[in-house]
Amino acid sequence: MATTICFLIGVLFITDTVWTQSMRQAYEVQELEDWTVDDFDCPMECFCPPSFPTALYCENRGLKEIPAIPSRIRYLYLENNLIETIPEKPFENATQLRWINLNKNKITNYGIEKGALSQLKKLLFLFLEDNELEEVPSPLPRSLEQLQLARNKVSRIPQGTFSNLENLTLLDLQHNKLFDNAFQRDTFKGLKNLMQLNMAKNALRNMPPRLPANTMQLFLDNNSIEGIPENYFNVIPKVAFLRLNHNKLSDAGLPSSGFDVTSILDLQLSYNRLTKFPRINAHLQHLHLDHNKIKSVNVSVICPTILRADQDAFIYGPQLSYLRLDGNEIKSPIPMDFMACFKLLQAVII
Ligand SMILES: *[C@@H]1O[C@H](CO)[C@@H](O)[C@H](O)[C@H]1NC(C)=O
Ligand SMILES: *[C@@H]1O[C@H](CO)[C@@H](O)[C@H](O)[C@H]1NC(C)=O
Ligand SMILES: *[C@@H]1O[C@H](CO)[C@@H](O)[C@H](O)[C@H]1NC(C)=O
Ligand SMILES: *[C@@H]1O[C@H](CO)[C@@H](O)[C@H](O)[C@H]1NC(C)=O
Repeated sequence: MATTICFLIGVLFITDTVWTQSMRQAYEVQELEDWTVDDFDCPMECFCPPSFPTALYCENRGLKEIPAIPSRIRYLYLENNLIETIPEKPFENATQLRWINLNKNKITNYGIEKGALSQLKKLLFLFLEDNELEEVPSPLPRSLEQLQLARNKVSRIPQGTFSNLENLTLLDLQHNKLFDNAFQRDTFKGLKNLMQLNMAKNALRNMPPRLPANTMQLFLDNNSIEGIPENYFNVIPKVAFLRLNHNKLSDAGLPSSGFDVTSILDLQLSYNRLTKFPRINAHLQHLHLDHNKIKSVNVSVICPTILRADQDAFIYGPQLSYLRLDGNEIKSPIPMDFMACFKLLQAVII
């Protein structure tokens, strides 16, 4: 029987807000320029809305090739076609491009001509989800802010691919074929502004090494990660959202201080192999520990440890407001003072 204890419902975590700023930037208000009639040419395969002259809609048309892109275009929609190649030629005048959506096509690395992407000096967003890439495409424009490569077959990251992408904030590589050997010492070096790294659903057995210092959101669900090295979190002192659901983490695989990291606010460890409640920090707000092998919860161990370890916690108390512990092997009832200690708002225990 599932018992849900709801002290109060309504605290929701919204991780997406981080990105609204760059979205706004990409859609910055169009300055009125003096276009001539010639500038309004529109590839016959596509739709050019008169009210939005900088956008070009060519999606869902069974296209096999990218049409010549007029120079005024900033937003280019090419998703859901049969495109296999990205040549340089159609983009030769498209110097204003900010946004390209090429999701759901058949693009391979062999099909991308060397200068095709890097010549787009103002490109901010590049969507290449659901294609047939085996490597992260390279070289990429230095201006890039978001690179979306989910659901390809990426197993390789060529040397230096990210080294100049100082403005990249989001890198989505989920659902690819990355093994630990995809990373070199300097793979992520240069990603000074990276905030979100998504490598969920790959084949990693270890945590990715030497992550950029500004990483705030690290998503590694559905890999085969067995452990986290000692001091791993020291190099990512801003990490706030850490998802490791569906991995192979055991007690022995955790660093000696567990997840006692001040910056972490949301920690997801569902479907792992933990038998003990891991060490956490008093600042933690959401904790997902369901579907592990935890046998008991000892309040007199967990609660005072947190209180002792953190000066703020003495004053304000632990911040944990949401906890999932269902799907574990806890036999004895959880004492009510456990909830009281954490000021839990919502907990799913059994
Ligand atoms: C780029 O512009 C030049 C000059 O207007 C034109 O001759 C050429 O065909 C254009 N290229 C493409 C791919 O549209
Ligand atoms: C990175 O972003 C800043 C601020 O928007 C901008 O001034 C700079 O030119 C960008 N860098 C590149 C390489 O585009
Ligand atoms: C991980 O796998 C589980 C079970 O197959 C699935 O329900 C979940 O959506 C997956 N999550 C991600 C982020 O891939
Ligand atoms: C909880 O931990 C304390 C201190 O280690 C111990 O004395 C006590 O017996 C434990 N309680 C249970 C129920 O295991």
